[in-house]
Amino acid sequence: MSKKSFYCLGIETSCDETAAAVVDKDYKIISNVVFSQQKLHAPYFGVVPELASRTHYEKIHIVIDKALKNFNIKRINLIAYTEKPGLKGALLVGKTVAKTLGFIYSIPTIGVDHLWGHIYSVILTYKGKIKFPFLSLIISGGHTELSMVYSFKKREVLGQTLDDAVGEAFDKVAKMLYTYLDEKYKKNLPLSYPGGPAVEKLAVYGDNKKIKLPRPYMLEDYNFSFSGLKTAVLYYVKNKKLTLKDVYDICASFQTAVVDVFKTKLLYVAEKLNCRRICISGGVSSNKFLRKKLKDIGRDKNLEFYFPSKTLSTDNAAMIASAGIKFYLD
Ligand code: KG4
Ligand code: ZN
Repeated sequence: MSKKSFYCLGIETSCDETAAAVVDKDYKIISNVVFSQQKLHAPYFGVVPELASRTHYEKIHIVIDKALKNFNIKRINLIAYTEKPGLKGALLVGKTVAKTLGFIYSIPTIGVDHLWGHIYSVILTYKGKIKFPFLSLIISGGHTELSMVYSFKKREVLGQTLDDAVGEAFDKVAKMLYTYLDEKYKKNLPLSYPGGPAVEKLAVYGDNKKIKLPRPYMLEDYNFSFSGLKTAVLYYVKNKKLTLKDVYDICASFQTAVVDVFKTKLLYVAEKLNCRRICISGGVSSNKFLRKKLKDIGRDKNLEFYFPSKTLSTDNAAMIASAGIKFYLD
């Protein structure tokens, strides 16, 4: 890297996080501000697109102000914003703000693919030191994507989900558990949106062998499918009045089924393609049970697993800024 400094303001508004960050070209995070809209969407058990766009519109300038609190915007060399994929109205807010700031301050702008952003959350965590090629598994609320990453700008998608994204399956299972939970326990359990962190917390108290759940699509090809697993949970809970113990066991059994799918599939792909480096990113990658199980298999099977730091696991703008710099400069 040359000595000359280069700073990027990142803007992320693809879903329910309103985020801005300043990152330099040597992977230094100057600021990383996220306003999570989760509480607003929680009563609906999912993201309401119109509510998300309106909230981005209300919060984006506050978030950008915070990210630039100790940093004069005139020192910014590039503005990177999430261009796709995501909620259309939500994306438009970030893009409009980025373009407007770029126009006023004569700063170039670049649109970034959100999925590249997740891959850069790992690259940023390891300050660009992960060797290419590596396998990337993005597991989030909207996506489940397996790819081979050849360079900072080139990846080949190998497989994706054929139906639900894995985070979406976590969210829907949490909703089912809440729906069929005995009324008297409803106030006691943190079952709301997003469901993933809640399922992880409750799984700790459960028996993960209690309920037999399918492990779909482990070896067929490089794709994934989670709707069958989700439906199996639905058949199990339907018309029951779930006790706390039931909920703990379902969470543990479901989480283990998901992790088994990833363990088996990643081992299969790594061996088939002879690639031992694997980066895992996206909201679900913050799951501690998943991290532990993958690290264990990594030790046994000589695979190297790389995860983003906790703050970079879920949606943020630092990953967008970091990807923007590489795509712009390289
Ligand atoms: O990457 P992300 O913040 O947003 C998208 O790009 O979708 O991922 C959000 C998803 C949600 O579905 C949420 O339930 C899931 O990540 N998630 C988790 C955990 N933390 C977040 N799933 C399982 N375990 C977790 N600890
Ligand atoms: Zn995301």
